[in-house]
Amino acid sequence: MRSLLFVPADSDRKLAKSLTCGADALILDLEDSVTSEHKDVARSNASKFLNENLDRATKTRRMQIYVRINDLQSSYWRADLDAVVAAGPDGIMLPKPRSGADVAALSAALRSAEQQAGRERTHISIIAIATETPGSLLNMASYIGASARLTGLCWGAEDLGTALGAQSNRDGSGRFTSPYLLARNLCLVTAAAAEVQAIDTVFTDFRNDEGLRAEAEEAARDGFTGKLAIHPAQVPIINEMFTPSAANIEMAQQIVAAFKSKGGKGAVSLNGRMLDRPHLVQAQKLLTRAALTSSGNEA
Ligand code: COA
Ligand code: MG
Repeated sequence: MRSLLFVPADSDRKLAKSLTCGADALILDLEDSVTSEHKDVARSNASKFLNENLDRATKTRRMQIYVRINDLQSSYWRADLDAVVAAGPDGIMLPKPRSGADVAALSAALRSAEQQAGRERTHISIIAIATETPGSLLNMASYIGASARLTGLCWGAEDLGTALGAQSNRDGSGRFTSPYLLARNLCLVTAAAAEVQAIDTVFTDFRNDEGLRAEAEEAARDGFTGKLAIHPAQVPIINEMFTPSAANIEMAQQIVAAFKSKGGKGAVSLNGRMLDRPHLVQAQKLLTRAALTSSGNEA
């Protein structure tokens, strides 16, 4: 999933629009973009939307549909799960977890909600926003192996900034300041250690396409494979930045070919550069991702 678009689930208009945005995933939001007065309507909209669109989305465009529930310390999250599990979303996004124990608790709750809804064990995945609470940042290793359902980690700077008492999470030129880069980098490393997708955070300045492009480019360079979106106009930019470029694909093919032609050699040279196993693995991963992206686009 390159682009994951948040859609406030209390908005009929945004729900309707989301289907044509070209996002690899939608995240129907029941949390921060929905006021407490609108939680009920958001839940029933989300359930209806899933029932109406899940099959079509999966079959025709391979678009995933996730639901962001409220955090496990809130009084809302159980009702959130009860409202959507029967419809079988592709996944649940968990905000503000305190540690991997919250992921494990959500996983157990998903299992019992599935049973109550009369469903067999499903493949509802979990993406955790692992850096929204300061305590979670001190517990990042706990996400490794927290649940077989965990398929992605993303990071958040808005709630973290509020928790830290910061005046701003970006400097005058719009770049994240160091506490948030710590969160970003820990998310990236933890996702790799947990063998799940690393997903970059939202870019809230949604009319600034160049700023989004630059931030997405840096994220892709560093190893993130997708980015959260908050506005439809961000989706094509994110999709482009997380699709392996023709030049990168060609380079990866040359690297794989260089190893093949030297049959069995651990280190080879290409254009004056030494390549060994990590370069080969990196090239193979990129080619796998390129194949996935192009088969997704053709579907
Ligand atoms: N998903 C689907 N459709 C969206 C959308 C979204 N996240 N954001 C905007 N749209 C739609 C609008 O409804 C509008 O559609 P219309 O032409 O049918 O009316 C169109 O895209 C253009 O929207 P625009 O007028 O440019 O923006 P806005 O002022 O209506 O909304 C935001 C701006 C930021 C409030 C809106 O983008 C939004 O709600 N984003 C998600 C917020 C969120 O989920 N936050 C929590 C995660 S951090
Ligand atoms: Mg939030």
